Amino acid sequence: MTIGRIQGKIAVITGGARGLGAAAVTRFCEEGGIVHIADIDQSTGEAFAARLRESGYQAEFHHLDVTSENAWQTVLGAVDAKHGRIDILVNNAGVALPIMPIDERPLADWQLVMDVNAKGVFLGTKYVLPIMKRNGSGAIVNLSSAAALGQWQTMEGAYAASKAAVHVFTKSVGTQYAADNIRCNSVHPGPIDGEMAQAILGANPDILARRLTRVPMKRLGKPEEVAAAILFLASDEASYITGAQLSVDGGAVAQ
Ligand SMILES: NC(=O)c1ccc[n+]([C@@H]2O[C@H](COP(=O)([O-])OP(=O)(O)OC[C@H]3O[C@@H](n4cnc5c(N)ncnc54)[C@H](O)[C@@H]3O)[C@@H](O)[C@H]2O)c1
Repeated sequence: MTIGRIQGKIAVITGGARGLGAAAVTRFCEEGGIVHIADIDQSTGEAFAARLRESGYQAEFHHLDVTSENAWQTVLGAVDAKHGRIDILVNNAGVALPIMPIDERPLADWQLVMDVNAKGVFLGTKYVLPIMKRNGSGAIVNLSSAAALGQWQTMEGAYAASKAAVHVFTKSVGTQYAADNIRCNSVHPGPIDGEMAQAILGANPDILARRLTRVPMKRLGKPEEVAAAILFLASDEASYITGAQLSVDGGAVAQ
C-alpha cells in the first residue's frame, strides 16, 4: 500500500465544491487526506462529497459562508470535535467580478469582493490558529492570485486589492506563528480554465486571446496544476517554507 503525501491529515478546504477547490479536494483525497469541503453551494458540495465517499475516499461537506464569523466557528468546531485536530486549512473560496471602470464601480461590489476574498481568509485563519496551536502544528494555504503581484492595468481593481490583502496577510501569519510550528503560504494562480476565468474574461474569444498575450506559456492553466501547488505547500514536504508565495501562472507575472 502506498502512503499518501498527506496521509491521515485532517484538511478543511473552502470553496471546495467546484473549480480549483474541487481539484484540491480530489488531490488531497488521493493523497490520503481526510477532507472537509466547506462551501456556500450546499447541493454541489454535498453531491461531490458523496461521489468521493463512493470512490472510497474520506470526504464530508459542511455549509459555510466564509464571510460569517458564526459559521466559521461552527464548522471548525465540528471538525475539531470529530477528529481532535485540524492539520490543514486551505482558504480557497473567492469571488471575482467582470472588469469595469473603477469610477463606475458600485461600493457594494467592492464590499462583496473584500468580504469574501479578504475577510473570509482572516476569519478562517483567526479561528483555526487556536486549534493548530493546541495541536502543536498546522499548515494554512491561501489562494491569492497573479492579480496581487502585477499586470494591474488589466486586472479588476477590487479583486486585485483583495488578493493583495491575502498575499500580505499570509506573510503576517507565516512569520507571527512560525514559532508555533504553523506555516502559512499563498498560491498565486494566473488565468485557470473554469467558471471564474469565464466570469472575468467573458465568453468573448478576443478577450481571452488578449489575456493570453500576457502569459508566456500561451495557454490557460488547469485546476490540477494549481491543486499540485496547494498540496505541496500543505504537505510536510514544505516543512521549511512559510510566508512564501508560489506563482502558478505560466510565467505571467515574471514576464
Ligand atoms: N480561476 C482562476 O483563474 C483564478 C486565478 C487566480 C486566483 N484564483 C482564486 O482561486 C480560488 C478558486 O477559484 P475558482 O476558479 O475555483 O473559482 P470558482 O468560482 O470556480 O469557485 C469558487 C468556489 O467558492 C465558493 N464560494 C463563493 N463564495 C463563497 C462564500 N461566501 N463562502 C463559501 N464558499 C464560497 C463557490 O460556491 C465555489 O464553489 C479563488 O480564491 C480565486 O480568486 C482563481
